[in-house]
Amino acid sequence: MKVSIAGAGFYGSTLALRVAEAGYADEVVLTDIVEGKPQGLALDLMQSRPLAGFETRVTGTNGYDETAGSDICVITAGLPRKPGMSRMDLLETNARIVADVTRRLVDASPGMVLIVVSNPLDEMTALAAAASELPKGRVMGQAGLLDSARFRHFVAERLGVATSEVEAITLGSHGETMVPVPSLATVGGRPLADLLDAAAIEDVVQRTRDGGAEIVALLRTGSAYFAPAAAAETMVRAVARDTHEVQPVSAWVDGPFGIEGVFVGVPARIGRAGVEEVVELDLAAGELAALRTAAAAVRGKQDEAVGLLA
Ligand code: LAC
Repeated sequence: MKVSIAGAGFYGSTLALRVAEAGYADEVVLTDIVEGKPQGLALDLMQSRPLAGFETRVTGTNGYDETAGSDICVITAGLPRKPGMSRMDLLETNARIVADVTRRLVDASPGMVLIVVSNPLDEMTALAAAASELPKGRVMGQAGLLDSARFRHFVAERLGVATSEVEAITLGSHGETMVPVPSLATVGGRPLADLLDAAAIEDVVQRTRDGGAEIVALLRTGSAYFAPAAAAETMVRAVARDTHEVQPVSAWVDGPFGIEGVFVGVPARIGRAGVEEVVELDLAAGELAALRTAAAAVRGKQDEAVGLLA
């Protein structure tokens, strides 16, 4: 099992650490344009092995030859937003970077499953799918697991319970039209609506939507990476171990939920082949409408992003 990660910033390097420590990959390759950086990080990670208890080999490179034959590639390359910016403000800059990185990765690893985490997430996923010319099911974006983790965290904090007791899912876009799904949220098996009133739930939903921006404002430079990297590793693990588990990811949707021809956050069954199926959960009427609105909103931007390839 070989996993390559493009972009050795905080997100990429934290992801390399998590995948290496998880132990299911024989090799992790970290590639970045900055000379010495991926090599230095790889050497540092390799030296942590006797203490951290893993044997995964980690290689750092400025090229793509070393990524050849990867089973899974993750694109973290691109700029993060600055305070006050929306993810969409990154569209043009990151489109160039993501298209270039995608083509190089797919040339070296035509059989890979590709996971995109660069922002704006749903647009960069659509762009990478188009640039790669891979079957659409082999391309997916990470956002829903992160947004769901934020939702679960805020609910757990509010109720003073362990996060493991909180089950919740977040769909839609990784942006303005994010759709946290309170109707399916449970705490210790009980519906969230039995434990929090509508105003408190709306509060948690809004804080989830603003979860990334809240951290960007605090950090001043860069964006979140610990929870995002944990989310991306969760997807890598499902593919690597062929678990067939259902995770909220940005996947190609063409039919389910009455949505056609767009990458947007939906529950999807994930395995070695990538997205095996989009799982049509029963949503409340308002949530389904919000998901369709999200799909319509990202479709236009995805056309714009893919148009930049020409
Ligand atoms: C966030 C960025 C990574 O939500 O999109 O933190």
